[in-house]
Amino acid sequence: MKRIPIVVAGCGGVGRQLLEHIVNCRALHSKQGLALRVVGVCDSQSMLVTNDIFADELNDDVLTRICVEKTRGSSLSALGDIDDCQVFDYKEATMQVIDIAGLLGRSTGLVVVDCTASSETLELLKQAIDSGCCVVLANKKPLTSTIEDYEKLTAHVRRIRYESTVGAGLPIIASVTRVVASGDSILRIVGSLSGTLGYVMSEVETGRPLSEVVREAKRLGYTEPDPRDDLSGTDVARKALILARLVGWKINLDDIKVESLYPEDMAPGTLSTEEFLSNGLPLLDNDIGGRVRAASLNDNVLRYVCFIENSRVEVGLRELPKSSSIGRLRGSDNVVEIYSRCYRETPLVIQGAGAGNDTTAAGVLADLVDIQDLFK
Ligand SMILES: NC(=O)c1ccc[n+]([C@@H]2O[C@H](COP(=O)([O-])OP(=O)(O)OC[C@H]3O[C@@H](n4cnc5c(N)ncnc54)[C@H](OP(=O)(O)O)[C@@H]3O)[C@@H](O)[C@H]2O)c1
Repeated sequence: MKRIPIVVAGCGGVGRQLLEHIVNCRALHSKQGLALRVVGVCDSQSMLVTNDIFADELNDDVLTRICVEKTRGSSLSALGDIDDCQVFDYKEATMQVIDIAGLLGRSTGLVVVDCTASSETLELLKQAIDSGCCVVLANKKPLTSTIEDYEKLTAHVRRIRYESTVGAGLPIIASVTRVVASGDSILRIVGSLSGTLGYVMSEVETGRPLSEVVREAKRLGYTEPDPRDDLSGTDVARKALILARLVGWKINLDDIKVESLYPEDMAPGTLSTEEFLSNGLPLLDNDIGGRVRAASLNDNVLRYVCFIENSRVEVGLRELPKSSSIGRLRGSDNVVEIYSRCYRETPLVIQGAGAGNDTTAAGVLADLVDIQDLFK
């Protein structure tokens, strides 16, 4: 049986779902000769860790209790009564993970899984890599830090996986990696990588005002609590940067031209979310409506995409042929078109749900299983 020790940082929607998937897949993994051994779990305040990281693990009852407590909104520090475990506060927690990485990196190996939405994990992840450990991320922020940080994180390509950072469980990173590894040259990547903006643009195309569609998307839970977090395009830019760096371009987030769907004078510091939704957003209806109609006259549709071509990355609204995969997109699916020497006329297309805790955590779990060959 191959036993892989894991520390999970972050037990929000994705982290909790990952713990549930690990518990639910025990029988399947066992048949494959694999046992995922969770030795520690962190949230933003604290860390719960087994006393004997070499021989012991947080058992399935404890993992289930973590999920229950975190769903209730408690901190992991509420679990201080569990036998054979210890709780550390945040400062100690970071040192604990680094210590565990140092100890297990030299012996059994360890995977540090980043299911946080924080930039603060970067140093910890770099130290884990330095200690010979593996890293799996759902969190885009460490990978979209400076190019120097990115190169340190990815210095040992086989020891890092981050499929879920772009398109959740969809095999986008894996596909780009395979195309690059085969020596095929990537000519262009076009991606609709925000489920929210995919939904918004396909609804606006039917003639509905932008403001109505965004308010509806918020009501349906498709947007962030402040929809400007989606409309700014920053999240799409991070995904585009991850893809561009995968293709081999040494660029930073600042090098990406990003079109925000709202102007500076409607930014969060200026208008509250409510003011933006009721007073600001309707002022944008005419412009977007006009652009949608102009695209239609050209037999095109307007989509919010990332465009990666000739060492240039742009994120924003583009007219695309109605007949293309992205042009046919309806609803919140993600779609990526990869054009390369081998896929020059007809692109390699990957499409499906690009968000959701279940699919995202499934992508993280698949990454964990994928690196099992690095463990004895
Ligand atoms: N959900 C999706 O559809 C999806 C899709 C693709 C990628 N992702 C990515 O997956 C990640 C997790 O998403 P989520 O929806 O689960 O986020 P979330 O619900 O906000 O949970 C984040 C978790 O990280 C913890 N945390 C924050 N800072 C930390 C730190 N410095 N050290 C350790 N833990 C820390 C938080 O602790 P507390 O519990 O104490 O607040 C919380 O448990 C994000 O980076 C997101 O972008 C999500």
